[in-house]
Amino acid sequence: MLRLAVLVSGGGTNLQAIMDSISDGRITNAQIAVVISNNAGAYALTRADEYGAEALVVSPKDYPSREEFNQALLDTLKEHKIDLVVLAGYLVVVPPCVIQEFENRIINIHPSLIPSFCGTGCYGLHVHEKALARGVRVSGATVHFVDEGTDTGPIILQKPVMVEQDDTPEVLQRRIMEQAEWIILPKAIDLIANGKVHVDGRKVTIEE
Ligand code: GRF
Repeated sequence: MLRLAVLVSGGGTNLQAIMDSISDGRITNAQIAVVISNNAGAYALTRADEYGAEALVVSPKDYPSREEFNQALLDTLKEHKIDLVVLAGYLVVVPPCVIQEFENRIINIHPSLIPSFCGTGCYGLHVHEKALARGVRVSGATVHFVDEGTDTGPIILQKPVMVEQDDTPEVLQRRIMEQAEWIILPKAIDLIANGKVHVDGRKVTIEE
């Protein structure tokens, strides 16, 4: 049984998709051991409470230095015997010590088809603003392993979503969440939990 830590900062709709997928069997062999947010006001924590998962706030603001926050986050993950860390709208830079300890065991959902519209400063609505400004006809979402870069880790799954002529960033964001994020993030977790994802350097292969 894969023990998941889901790291959140905001509304938690991707967390909700994971919880729903475990409940309805789309995800097998995995359980949410803990939900961790840097933001005490994150609605994602309410979702975790309603689901019955342990929910913790581990925030850089609560520590004298970033190094002490980094260590506290790593300690929390190890205390909960976490196998896979899932970034679901997590807006804090993942500490290098966590990335080293959890090599190829941290995944992130990004709301574009990487390598488009990603990297530093490309998060939340900014991603969709850039996609619309560029005039792309297709956008989508990507699940990837997290390495020391920003949105640079090996890609696991992607799902395209059509951009409509009159889209606003908000409308496009919602469509990408509904039609892509909430589908491929649970799918990636299920594949990993059932040993079907293999990483060789930058190349990810998935057993069907
Ligand atoms: C989503 O758009 C996701 O792609 C991005 O941050 C947002 C999080 O939304 N990483 P939620 O907190 O899961 O609702």
